[in-house]
Amino acid sequence: MRRVVVDAPASSANLGSGFDVFAIGLRDPRDSIELRASESQERIISLNYTNGYAFLNSDITAAGAVVKAVAKEFEIKSKIDVTVNNRIPIGVGLGSSAASSVGVAVAMNRFFDLGLTEERLLSYAVEGEFAASGARHYDNIAGSLQGGFRIVHQDPLKTVGFPPPNGMAIVVVTPGIELPVRKTEYARSLLPKNLELGNLTKNISLASRVVAGFAKGDVAMIGSGLGDVVIEPARKAMIPWFDEVKSSALEAGAAGAFISGAGPSLTAVVDSLLSEPRRVRKAMTECFAKHGILTKSFVTTVGGGARIATEQ
Ligand code: HSE
Repeated sequence: MRRVVVDAPASSANLGSGFDVFAIGLRDPRDSIELRASESQERIISLNYTNGYAFLNSDITAAGAVVKAVAKEFEIKSKIDVTVNNRIPIGVGLGSSAASSVGVAVAMNRFFDLGLTEERLLSYAVEGEFAASGARHYDNIAGSLQGGFRIVHQDPLKTVGFPPPNGMAIVVVTPGIELPVRKTEYARSLLPKNLELGNLTKNISLASRVVAGFAKGDVAMIGSGLGDVVIEPARKAMIPWFDEVKSSALEAGAAGAFISGAGPSLTAVVDSLLSEPRRVRKAMTECFAKHGILTKSFVTTVGGGARIATEQ
């Protein structure tokens, strides 16, 4: 029996106004997805999971959907075992299901030598997102597969990316609050169906600042674009004290902050050449703590995408 192990990073999507379009791949944490297969007369798929609960586990749902989609398309008849070694917290807006989906797509491609382009890998990985959240959004999977800052164009599917500016640090703070099962689906149900033209203009202007900031390597410009007058106002009720925590991040020196994907984590962007990321982290966690909310938090950077870790 051969095996391929892929590691795929967490990601933080939207960056304010770039709903379903923008994401950054994080340096860490990274899930590790192991695929083993052996000859068989029929297709047998088994899904395993370490670190956490398998019951209602969106990573397992996502990984299963991707392995089935690829195996069906390429008429693969094998006994396939997939194990998701989970290190990315599930259901907190850090692209855990995306990392599992990407990891499986990359592992299947390598193991069965399918020659898939990055766009085709994304088109299979998105089936995992659909199974986990009921929506085919490509932002997290693009961040996890390709790393850096990614901009997704859906039809036809294409992505373009930029590396992070020098010194750009990322602070992630996750409040310990109860959220519905299938949280992303719930968070998407809160969104407005129609937009006011003025808000569309404001969001395009904000998104343009983010892109221009990455193009120029200017962390302050990126930070100044990390706002959103459409999605965040609808979702922030899910996150108690959101405005206050965001303000505390800015006062402690962050260039900007946003709800990470569908939340409830917050991501702050910090120019570490000018401000201390740990100070931003402390300000945000203390602000939540003041209101009785415990948090988990870490400091990282934008990182590279999924990669083959082991092949035997
Ligand atoms: N763009 C998606 C959303 C990301 O905001 O629903 C989910 O992580």
